[in-house]
Amino acid sequence: MKIVILGAGAGGGSPQWNSNGHACNRARAGDPAVPPRTQASIAASADGTHWFIFNASPDLRQQINATPCLHPRHGLRDTPISGVVLTGGDIDSITGLLTLRERQPLTIYGTGATLDILGANSVFEVLARDIVKRQRVSLDTRTPLLAPDGTTTGLAITLFAVPGKVPLYMESTTEVPPITVGEATVGVGISDAAHSAYFIPGCARMTPELAARLHGAKLVFFDGTLWRDDEMITSGAGTKTGSRMGHMSLSGPSGTIAAFAPLDVKRRIFVHINNSNPVLMADAPERAQTQAAGWEVGYDGMEVTL
Ligand code: MLT
Ligand code: MN
Repeated sequence: MKIVILGAGAGGGSPQWNSNGHACNRARAGDPAVPPRTQASIAASADGTHWFIFNASPDLRQQINATPCLHPRHGLRDTPISGVVLTGGDIDSITGLLTLRERQPLTIYGTGATLDILGANSVFEVLARDIVKRQRVSLDTRTPLLAPDGTTTGLAITLFAVPGKVPLYMESTTEVPPITVGEATVGVGISDAAHSAYFIPGCARMTPELAARLHGAKLVFFDGTLWRDDEMITSGAGTKTGSRMGHMSLSGPSGTIAAFAPLDVKRRIFVHINNSNPVLMADAPERAQTQAAGWEVGYDGMEVTL
């Protein structure tokens, strides 16, 4: 299985269009220690011919153009992209679907809750249903990823619930949304005949079930949104904590680095890294701490072969 990180940034990317933050300004200035990161997405293939995109970010057009294995190969209209797997209905997970609107056969895989969001927003009908299939995937069910002609591609997914909340634009204006475990936010296990990897770009906390699932895994791409739960507040960038936004943070006793310490995961890579997170900067002490704990900080174009 081959996996390419198309985007390692969180919603907004880095640099974010309206951010004057330190990391954003360094990225904008071309500082090699802080390369730009587009919004979170990976691509995976078992056979090198059929590729699947995991979350369609607003940067998908740019990401495809930057990734040769995703370019057209034969004939005037062609793509190696056979489908898109969605982990939720956030803006940074679904809006790239609109980029794929050129009457190209493919399949969108997601939970009922996520596909209902597409169904309720008619702009997504631009992906004409006679060409673009929408496949509801039940939780905890191994589901093969198929080529447009219905043949197998060697890849399969298993969607599983992780703690999360409804997308930002579906929140009530008056109440803090509850963190729930259901179809709204899922992780995905990606497997071929020999190997499995996990892609979990949003997760509000480690649960015993999730810890048991990930124990001993070869490769996990995980929510790297914030370093500290309150960093948006202390930096003046916003009023919400990470836990309010449905993201656990890297540091601290209940943070991701601590939660993974006993899990024996062979390769751990942060993705969905917010532009306020100091680990984006290669020379930050937090980056050194993260690497010393056995984690890699994902970057756009990073390739992993299992
Ligand atoms: C998130 O990951 O919390 C969301 O992508 C936020 C957003 O929609 O901007
Ligand atoms: Mn996000």
